[in-house]
This record gives sequence, C-alpha cells and structure tokens, in this order.
Amino acid sequence: MLVKLAKDRIRKGMFIESVACPSKEFAKRRFVLTSDRDMAAIARSSASKVLINVALGLDADGRAPSPSIDKRRQPKPSTSGPNAAEIGKVRGEIDQTRQALKTHLTDLVAGGPLDLADLSEVSGRNARTWKDSAVIALEVTRLKSKDETTYVHSLAVSGIMTLLGQALDIDEETVGMLGVAGMLHDIGKLLIPSEILTKPGQLTAHERDIIRHHPEGGFQLLSGHPGLPQLVLDICRLHHEALDGSGYPLGLQRDDLAMPVRLSTVCDVFEALTSVRPYKRPWTPTEALDWMFARPNLFDRKMVIRLGSVLIDTPIH
Ligand SMILES: [Fe+2]
Repeated sequence: MLVKLAKDRIRKGMFIESVACPSKEFAKRRFVLTSDRDMAAIARSSASKVLINVALGLDADGRAPSPSIDKRRQPKPSTSGPNAAEIGKVRGEIDQTRQALKTHLTDLVAGGPLDLADLSEVSGRNARTWKDSAVIALEVTRLKSKDETTYVHSLAVSGIMTLLGQALDIDEETVGMLGVAGMLHDIGKLLIPSEILTKPGQLTAHERDIIRHHPEGGFQLLSGHPGLPQLVLDICRLHHEALDGSGYPLGLQRDDLAMPVRLSTVCDVFEALTSVRPYKRPWTPTEALDWMFARPNLFDRKMVIRLGSVLIDTPIH
C-alpha cells in the first residue's frame, strides 16, 4: 500500500517509492531508506511529499509492515465508512450519468451523430462525482449487471482517468478530453454480439479474436465523426497496448504510446481488476495497484504510483 507523507516525517526503515522533485537524484530509484545521506538529500529536495510503500517498510507511524494477507483480512471499522445518505446520493448521480452515456453510445452505434458538447457535459458531471466521492463511486460501480457492464465500466474509467489527470497536473481542457475518451474507449464492445461478450466460461479462439478487435472496431466507428480530438481516437484504439509491445491491436511499445494512452491503460486495468466478476472475487484497490506496480513491463509505474496516491489519500479497503 502506498502512502503519501510529508517529507519531514520520513525515517530510516521506510521504503521510498518516489520523491517528486525535478532533480535526477531520485529518478527511477525505489529503496529502503537507510543512509543519512539519502535522508539529507530528501530534506534538501524541492519535493514537499514522499510516497512510501508500507508493505515493504515502516509505515507513517514507524510501525513495521505486517504480512499483507493479514492486513487485507482486517475488517473495515464500522465507524469509518460513508453513511447511507452519501452512498444514495452518489448512486443517484451515477445512475443518471450511466443513462445519459447509454443513450449516447447506443445512438452512435446505430449510426447517429456525435453530440460532443453534450457528452462533455455528462463527462464533466461524472468527473465531479468522482472528485467529491471517489471511494463511494468506486464501490458503487464495482458491481455491474451483465447488460450494463460496458456503460458502468466506461463511466468508472472516465472518472478515474479525470482524477489521475488532475493529480498529474494535466491542463483542464485535456482532462476534459480524457473524461470523454474514457466514456468512449470501449464503444467497440457494443459492436460485439452480446452472446460472445457475456459468454460464461472459456471463449474459443475465434471469439477471443472478435473481442480483441473491439479497440480497432471502436476506432473505426469514431473516426467517422469529424471533430473528435486525436487523443480520444488514440485512447479508443490503443488502450489495450502494453509498454513491452505485448498488447493489442498494434503491439506498440512504450515510446510509441503517448502519456494519455498510458494513463488510460492503467485506469482501464485498475477498474477491471477491482470490479466484481462472476469468475473472480474483486480485488481491493491496494491489491490491484500492487499487482500493476509489479509489472512495469506492462504499465507506466509513474501512473500506477500516482493513482495510488490519489486513491489512498482517502483509504479504501
Ligand atoms: Fe477495452
């Protein structure tokens, strides 16, 4: 689990994941803090906060890490959760934006026009819900009915992408487009027969190919709508690419994947891992982030770390 800490609270024995400062001194370094030299260098740096990994070193209060399995089994304190009114409010907001998104996507798939201004407005409303109540929104969108999976997933990915975009200090206009891109990124899935998309159990190789075509299918559909920013088209087509070239449909590598695309992949996979699926229990956000962090060949680590800092600011268990 990643925790953001004011730099004057660091102590020896903590595991430093990142020190956000322009100096190259800590670039690409993850380490257990043991030396006075590193302590002094962090104190001198322009970073105000440091990201520590409490699974690998002392926590913010200087306690040693407990075995992660025990930590994850700890029951959530009953007093710390949001109340029913807050959950109801967020659920209502999510329901409304889901309906609006469903109307947009089904119209587009039926060959209708794209109302980018209205879709941006829906995306903006969704972004506000996530900014105000990320923990509840994540919980509410975790569970998806078979028919609504693509809409709810898209809504959640859109919300998480805007949160991460803001955390990375991306300009407001681009963050707005990230939100729209999240809403549209899986539109190609709506072109797939639902008996394949919702098929329980193993897929045949042919069915897998059909599903793997959804980024390209979506890209082709969206390309017929002039006025969509390139960023939206790229995210639709490339959100299943991986840094080492093992993704699809093009097998591009890190240098060919722009920052917004790498951001979308991290948010898309995070959302999928933390969702309730018939064939697996949902992972906690911490488990999902740990799993992704351990795969720098696939995911942009900076994005994973920053997503952790966004979501862990308000603890989620
Ligand atoms: Fe997808």
